[in-house]
Amino acid sequence: MKTILVTGGAGFIGSNFVKIMLEKHPNYKIINIDSLTYAGNLESLKHIDRNYSNYEFIKTDIRDRSKIEEIFINYDITSVINFAAESHVDRSIEDPEIFLTTNVIGTQVLLDVAKRHWKLNPKDKYCREYKNGVKFLQVSTDEVYGALGKTGMFVETMPLMPNSPYSASKASADMIVRAFNETFGIPVNITRCSNNYGPYQFPEKLIPLMINNCLQDKPLPVYGDGLQVRDWLHVFDHCHAIDTVLHKGVDGEVYNIGGNNEKANIDIVKLIIKTLNKSSTIIKYVKDRPGHDRRYAINNSKITTQLGWEPSYTFEHGIKETIQWYLDNTEWIENIISGDYASYYDKMYS
Ligand code: NAD
Ligand code: DAU
Repeated sequence: MKTILVTGGAGFIGSNFVKIMLEKHPNYKIINIDSLTYAGNLESLKHIDRNYSNYEFIKTDIRDRSKIEEIFINYDITSVINFAAESHVDRSIEDPEIFLTTNVIGTQVLLDVAKRHWKLNPKDKYCREYKNGVKFLQVSTDEVYGALGKTGMFVETMPLMPNSPYSASKASADMIVRAFNETFGIPVNITRCSNNYGPYQFPEKLIPLMINNCLQDKPLPVYGDGLQVRDWLHVFDHCHAIDTVLHKGVDGEVYNIGGNNEKANIDIVKLIIKTLNKSSTIIKYVKDRPGHDRRYAINNSKITTQLGWEPSYTFEHGIKETIQWYLDNTEWIENIISGDYASYYDKMYS
């Protein structure tokens, strides 16, 4: 019986992960903690409380050490999946500080508490033996590797060269996770995945922003020349990959996760326009993002050959399903855009 502490489980990937894990592992207990920032949304989880007794949500900040201690004591946590983060590059350019406190200090607080609770002899500072089966899984990003030119792919052994305050904070978190493994022997894995898309993604990110603007007949703001390339991964594939690493990942290892779907931003925007029967005149090229990474591409071969995970979605299928999801869930998106989102949008795009 595992008791999994999912952090940031009211966000886009975390909420999908919680639902998938409850379906896949009915004998596991899932404790979801989230401080409910602008990106956290309990509406994304509203079907859960009704159906599952092995699930609990606790509103908590990962930087709150005493609350995290209390949770480890009360629930005998056996694994941590750390999704909680400030996740949007543009916001990190506006205001980097919270990216450092949440993404770096928050990760260190979780590691510190997990280390103390999982050690076989908590009083021995040199003890490197931990309870059976415990694991700290850090959900990182391909952005820590920096940007690629026209060719090449990210592999796990590459040096980290982050370019934005967001990716620098995620790279710092990776380094502290690695250091806890090297110094204290705590069992960890780090996963680095490419751009996710799918249901319940906050409409500050490219795909839901473009779908939402299309539906409202608003201009579609494409940064720079729109030829930047991302490697798109369906969120369900990502969640299954994390589950695979949780169960099969070798202690201390890093695993890249990608969808084998490299696309230029402008091609995605055009596909959304076509699917929603809009005119391409709504495309508006705007000032580029400072330090904008040109291309990301993930080499998946370590996780596919060593752990047996593979992405199942093609982009063509996944994007159609995703657009349909936003058409079918207008209430979810309207609740978001009727709040603080409007002032965020004006600040960033006016
Ligand atoms: P998201 O912004 O949708 O969700 C983040 C969640 O974390 C929110 O629910 C928020 O309330 C919560 N949170 C933020 N600060 C917190 C704090 N201090 N304490 C507790 N909870 C806090 O992000 P996402 O897109 O779901 O990304 C999840 C993770 O995956 C992040 O670590 C991100 O860096 C990583 N990642 C995301 C992508 C992607 O394409 N979305 C790709 C690679 C990696
Ligand atoms: O690669 C993984 C990363 O993917 C994650 O670590 C981040 O948490 C996640 O936000 C995402 O980062 P990106 O910066 O790649 O995603 P975003 O959706 O913000 O932008 C995708 C591309 O689209 C990027 O090249 C910028 C461009 N873009 C984005 C927005 C919001 C536009 O051209 N116009 C826009 O309005």
